[in-house]
Amino acid sequence: MEPSEQRIKIAVQKTGRLTDHSIDLLERCGLKLTRSKDQLICYGENMPIDLLLVRDDDIPGLVGEDICDLGIVGLNVVEEKRLNRAAEGRAIEFKQIYELDFGHCRLALAAPDGTEYNGPESLEKTRIATSYTGLLKHFLEENRVDAEPVYFSGAVEIAPKLGRADFICDIVSTGGTLKANGLVEVDTLLQSEAVVIQTQQPLGEAKQALVDKILQRLDGVLQVRESKYIMLHAPKDALAEIHALLPGSEAPTVLRLDGDDDKVAVHAVCRENVFWDTLENLKAAGASSLLVLPVEKMLA
Ligand code: PRP
Ligand code: ZN
Repeated sequence: MEPSEQRIKIAVQKTGRLTDHSIDLLERCGLKLTRSKDQLICYGENMPIDLLLVRDDDIPGLVGEDICDLGIVGLNVVEEKRLNRAAEGRAIEFKQIYELDFGHCRLALAAPDGTEYNGPESLEKTRIATSYTGLLKHFLEENRVDAEPVYFSGAVEIAPKLGRADFICDIVSTGGTLKANGLVEVDTLLQSEAVVIQTQQPLGEAKQALVDKILQRLDGVLQVRESKYIMLHAPKDALAEIHALLPGSEAPTVLRLDGDDDKVAVHAVCRENVFWDTLENLKAAGASSLLVLPVEKMLA
C-alpha cells in the first residue's frame, strides 16, 4: 500500500440517505472496498483510494481543509456551509463538480396541521426551529420577513410540540417524519441532491492523475445510467425521420440487411432514457424489430 499521504481520500456520509448510493457509485467506478473494523474507513483494495465515513455536515469542512480530496454530500449541506462562510466574510474552499441525481430531498417549511400559511409574510414575528440557520436567514431576508430562527442540532420536528417554535425548517425526503409528527409542509426553500465536491488545493501530479481518472469514470457511470443502446429496422426512405426521433443520439450506425433492399438496420446509443412513447413514435414512422438494451460501461 502507498503511504497514506499518497492515497486519495473521499469523504462519504456515515449513515443516512446518501451512504449506500455513494458507496455503490464508487464501486461502479471499479473501486473494491473493505470496511475497517470500526466501520469508519473503507480501504480501496485495487486503487489507492480510501473512503472516510463521517457525518454529512462535516464533509464540506473536511474537503475545504484538504483532509479529504473529494466528498459526496447533499447540496443542502454545501449551500448551508457556503452561506455560513459568507456570513463570516470568508469564501468556501472547495469546488462543486457533479450533480449525482440521487439523495433527492428538499429544505422545506412545515407547521402543525391547521396552521395558516399564505406565503412568507405568514412567518412574520414567528419562531422557526431549524438546523439550517444560514439558508433560513437567507430566505427570510430575501422575503423581507422578520422571524426568529431557533437553532436545533437535531430532532427539529419536535420543536412545535415542545412549544419552542411555530414553524420548522428542515429536510424532507419521503415526508414520513413530518407526517409522524403531525406537521404539514407549507413552502420549499431549496431542492437538493447529492453532489461531488473537490478540494481547491493543488494536488501532487500522481494524486491529480488519480482524481482525474476517478472523475472520468464517475462521468462514465453517470452517463450510462440514462443511456440506452437501441437497434431497429427502418425503411430507407424513413431514415431521416427515424434518426430525428432517437433521443440524444449521435450519428447512428446504418447497416445493410441481407436479402432486403428497402430496409436497413439502425444501431444508436441514446444518451437519454428511451420511453415507451418514443418506441411507439418510431414504430409509427415505419421502424420495426425494435430492441432497447442497457449500456454497461461508456468511455467518451
Ligand atoms: C432529515 C430530517 C428528517 C428526515 C426527513 O434528516 O431532519 O429527520 O431527514 O426525511 P423523510 O421526509 O424521508 O422522513 P437527515 O437525513 O438529513 O439526517 P441528519 O440531519 O442527521 O443529517
Ligand atoms: Zn446531517
